[in-house]
Amino acid sequence: MKPDNSDNFLSPVWWADDRLMLVDQRLLPAEELDRAYGRWEDVADAIRTLVVRGAPAIGVAAAFGVALAARQSRATTFDALFGDLEAAIKGLAATRPTAVNLFWALERMRRVALASVGVPLDRVTARLLTEAQAIRDEDIAANRALGTHGAALVPANARILTHCNAGALATAGFGTALGVIRAAHAQGRVDRVWVDETRPVMQGSRLTAWECAREGIPHTLIADVVAASLMARGQVDLIVTGADRIATNGDTANKIGTYALAVLGRHHRVPFYVAAPFSTIDPALASGEHIPIEERDPAEVRRVGAQQTAPATSPVFNPAFDVTPAALITAIITERGVFRPPYDFA
Ligand code: MRU
Repeated sequence: MKPDNSDNFLSPVWWADDRLMLVDQRLLPAEELDRAYGRWEDVADAIRTLVVRGAPAIGVAAAFGVALAARQSRATTFDALFGDLEAAIKGLAATRPTAVNLFWALERMRRVALASVGVPLDRVTARLLTEAQAIRDEDIAANRALGTHGAALVPANARILTHCNAGALATAGFGTALGVIRAAHAQGRVDRVWVDETRPVMQGSRLTAWECAREGIPHTLIADVVAASLMARGQVDLIVTGADRIATNGDTANKIGTYALAVLGRHHRVPFYVAAPFSTIDPALASGEHIPIEERDPAEVRRVGAQQTAPATSPVFNPAFDVTPAALITAIITERGVFRPPYDFA
């Protein structure tokens, strides 16, 4: 776990000793284990199996995966190197379909390679690593900036509900939704964070609660089904979540269960905010209906840990994300400021 500097926030993805380092998020909160990666194929596997997860963190890890592919290559011509990079980009892109940050980061890496025709191959390799580092650094800076913009929306003594983990662990550092909460907490404005446990993979209870506990942010863990009654009792002042892909009209894909919270927010007049960097906005999508939604292993729903909680033969529907229509979103908080409907991200 890399404590990143001055204010000691965490980063789950960094470069050290010619290796990509990832915090194994599958093991948290029981165990804090850093893993080292030297092959892009293993980075792809880490993304697929949720060693690293969260839209921006996946993008950063994939960028370093391409940098590793260049180092792995035995090519002696640019064309051969580019072929090896294209194979890695294709393999990394095939890991998870929903978070656009993955494809955005891979495209950035591809463009750096393409712009390096005629450059000595060892320099191309060095350029790719520099670009991956830049993607990581820019993500941290974006999250800090959006945290500041978002904190200005948080009233005094706020009770904030969040879903999944959009914290430092989901990004290169600081976090998006949890970055807003972190910044508001630093200003003394957070009474309590309601942390949805986030079935079935439990990113809320395993990761968000862990981050809050580590930083002394007052929080209370709830089963996902509790959110409605909390809002009915007037105990939620705002909802803030992250995003995996935002269409240009503001429709937003995020962890399954987010849409339900937005509907609840509208019914109970609780503002619903999305916090995300611009790398999460998909300029190619006019609306959310074509966002690809990942479906995951039925075993995630049939079991809780090692305990089987359903018949092994029961059919399961396990979408990892849902799409919240822009009409239910109060505002989208980015590093360039707070956007309100009708959205114009240009
Ligand atoms: O399946 P995951 O854990 O990768 O899903 C993560 C989320 O849905 C996050 O809310 C989203 O990626 C934003 S992270 C800043």
